[in-house]
Amino acid sequence: MAPNLSVDLAPGHKTGLVLPNPVMTASGTFSWGFEFAKQFDINRLGAVVSKGVTPLPRAGNQQPRVAETPGGMLNSIGLQNVGLDKVIDEFAPQWAKWEVPVIVNIAADTIDEFGEMAAALDGIPGVAAIELNISCPNVDIGGIEIGQDPEASARATRAAVRNTDLPVIVKITPNVTDPVALALACEAEGAAAFCCINTVLGMAIDLDRRRPVLPRARGGLSGPAIKPIALRIVYDVARAVSVPVVGCGGIRTGEDAVEFLMAGASAVQVGTAIFANPRAPLDVLEGLEAWLEREGVADVREIIGCALPAPPVPAASVLGS
Ligand SMILES: Cc1cc2nc3c(=O)[nH]c(=O)nc-3n(C[C@H](O)[C@H](O)[C@H](O)COP(=O)(O)O)c2cc1C
Repeated sequence: MAPNLSVDLAPGHKTGLVLPNPVMTASGTFSWGFEFAKQFDINRLGAVVSKGVTPLPRAGNQQPRVAETPGGMLNSIGLQNVGLDKVIDEFAPQWAKWEVPVIVNIAADTIDEFGEMAAALDGIPGVAAIELNISCPNVDIGGIEIGQDPEASARATRAAVRNTDLPVIVKITPNVTDPVALALACEAEGAAAFCCINTVLGMAIDLDRRRPVLPRARGGLSGPAIKPIALRIVYDVARAVSVPVVGCGGIRTGEDAVEFLMAGASAVQVGTAIFANPRAPLDVLEGLEAWLEREGVADVREIIGCALPAPPVPAASVLGS
C-alpha cells in the first residue's frame, strides 16, 4: 500500500494547513507557478510558495543578478515582483482553481507593512497561508535587517499574526549566530511554523574586472552547497520549538528530503534544483515515496524527527517513583 504522505503544518490553527504531501516549492524559484503548471501537474505537489511579494511592485537589482558557484549559485534578485495588488486581484483567483495550496511569501520595509500585507491577504480565496520573508539578504531595508534581530523578528511576526487568520510561517535566515533565538522569539508571537533556511550570504570575484561579480558584491548562496547548514539549523530549531519546521536548502532528491524529515522537518521546499530541472519537486516527491515504500514506512510522520536526540527522562521516572 502507498504510504500516507499527508502532513499538518499548522496543527490547532484556526484555518489549518494540511498538505497532501510534504514537498513544496521554495519562494523565488517557482515564480507564481503559472509557467510550471503548463509543464506538469502541479496539483501533485504538497504546496506552492510564491515569489516574495512587496506592497508595491519592485524592479529588483541591477544585472548580473546570479553567479554560479561550485555546488550552488549566488543570487541578488532584490525582490523583483509585481506588487501585492496584482497578486490579490489577478493571481489569487487563478490559484483558487488549483487543488494545491498556495502560500504567499511576503516581504516589506517596515514592521507595519508586514501587518498591512497580512491584513490584505486575509480571507482571499486561493491563499492558504503566509510565509514571512524576514530573511532576504538582497535589499537595503527590511529583509535580513529585521530577520537578524530576534526582537524585530518577533514584532514582524506579531504584526502579521494579529492581522490575519491565515497560518504565518516565518522564514529564518542562516546569517546569524543563533537561529534558535530568532525562532523562539517568533514562536512566542504566534508563528504557526518555521521555514529554515533562506540563502547564506556569499560573494564571488570577477578576475578580469577585479571586482565582485554581483553589483551589490554580496549575494545569497543556495543549492547543494548549503544543505549541511540548512540541516543543522532545522535540527536545532526543531528541537527548540513546538510548532512544525519546513526544511529548505539544497534539496534535489528524495533522499535529501528524507534527511531533512529525520532532522525534524515536517515538510521540505525545493528551490535551486528547479533551475536545472523544472520537475525537481516531483522527482523529490517520487524519490521520497519510493524510499518510504522500500523501507516499509506506512506513514511519513513516522520518520519526522527520528534523528533528533530523545528528550531527557524526567528525574522522577529515573528514580522509579
Ligand atoms: C533566484 C532566487 C530567488 C529567491 N527569492 C526568494 C524570495 O523572493 N523570497 C524568499 O523568501 N526566498 C527566496 N529565495 C530563497 C529560496 O526560497 C530558498 O530559501 C533558498 O534558495 C535555499 O533553498 P535551495 O538551496 O533549494 O534553493 C530565492 C532563491 C533564489 C535562488
